[in-house]
Amino acid sequence: MILALETSCDDTSVALLDANGVVRSLVSVNQDSAHRPFGGVVPEVASRAHTENLLPLVEEAFRQAALTWKDVEAVAVTSRPGLIGSLLVGVVTAKTLAMVKNVALVDVNHIEGHLLAALLKDEHYSPPKEFGFPYLALAVSGGHTHIFRVDGAGRYTLLGRTIDDAAGEAFDKFAKMMRLGFPGGVRVDEGAKGGDVKAFKFPRGLYHEDNLNFSFSGLKTAALRQLESMSESERQARLADLCASYQEASVDVLVHKVERAAELTGLKNWTVTGGVSANSRLRARITESALKHGAVIALPPLRYCTDNAAMIGLAGLLKFKAGHRASQDLSPAASALPTDWQSP
Ligand code: KG4
Ligand code: ZN
Repeated sequence: MILALETSCDDTSVALLDANGVVRSLVSVNQDSAHRPFGGVVPEVASRAHTENLLPLVEEAFRQAALTWKDVEAVAVTSRPGLIGSLLVGVVTAKTLAMVKNVALVDVNHIEGHLLAALLKDEHYSPPKEFGFPYLALAVSGGHTHIFRVDGAGRYTLLGRTIDDAAGEAFDKFAKMMRLGFPGGVRVDEGAKGGDVKAFKFPRGLYHEDNLNFSFSGLKTAALRQLESMSESERQARLADLCASYQEASVDVLVHKVERAAELTGLKNWTVTGGVSANSRLRARITESALKHGAVIALPPLRYCTDNAAMIGLAGLLKFKAGHRASQDLSPAASALPTDWQSP
């Protein structure tokens, strides 16, 4: 078994996985209510909540899986990228547990966890039978919008990324402008139901550029201008149309760039992961596109798409099997390491 800890942002999460990558338990504490009064994640609040929640969650993970430390061979932990104070809580806890329990320590890049999440298994989910390496992965969340070629564990090629905001960040900012509350992405998704995707014209950043990069800052500014030109009552009356049009602008580019990446690489296995992959419109559009292009799509359930320790456990397990070990000198890093992935 491998025990995994994830504390890179505002979710505290612990998982236990067996040697086949089957999730035996996954327990998380979501800090939304602690950050809601501030309208966004406050780093100090996040670190303190991780400190309070992490060890009780470790106990709960063992309890739910009916396992003990005797069953565990390694501890995996997210060590980068993320909020440094949040990462520190996970890394210090993992190092202490590994030393005291005399088990191996494995460090994991958070995005690597997202990339491998499609391969997780439990009693309700496993990826489509035909799905496997090499595959295309769109990792899209509040912190990242990256598109990768994944050839195996530890073998990632970054094909494109956002040059400014992440897609999730753009959803969150729009929700804030619309006063829909926090967390924003899911509120926009709900608000868009029944709305007309063509009601408002919003820009599709870098859509026609022949590269696999993304840009969402223009979309955000265009939305701000649009909202400034409307009265509060107009905004309320057109809420569904505004949300649907904004959401469609994001989803259009996300789907288009996956299609373009598939064309360039010839890859027929796709996955979308990260918090924004919870978006109902993105799920529907990418599934439709995969069908049209004869591709196999793995869309893991939401518990494996948003930040969670199970994906960190799987990345840790594959690295552990490949002989990778972290030392007690391990420190967290706010950014990825140059060796974490290659550019094409
Ligand atoms: O992966 P995640 O849990 O944390 C990060 O690493 O950022 O992703 C959180 C992001 C937030 O920006 C949130 O607004 C967005 O995912 N999100 C959504 C939806 N659910 C979560 N965005 C659009 N539609 C959703 N249904
Ligand atoms: Zn994430």
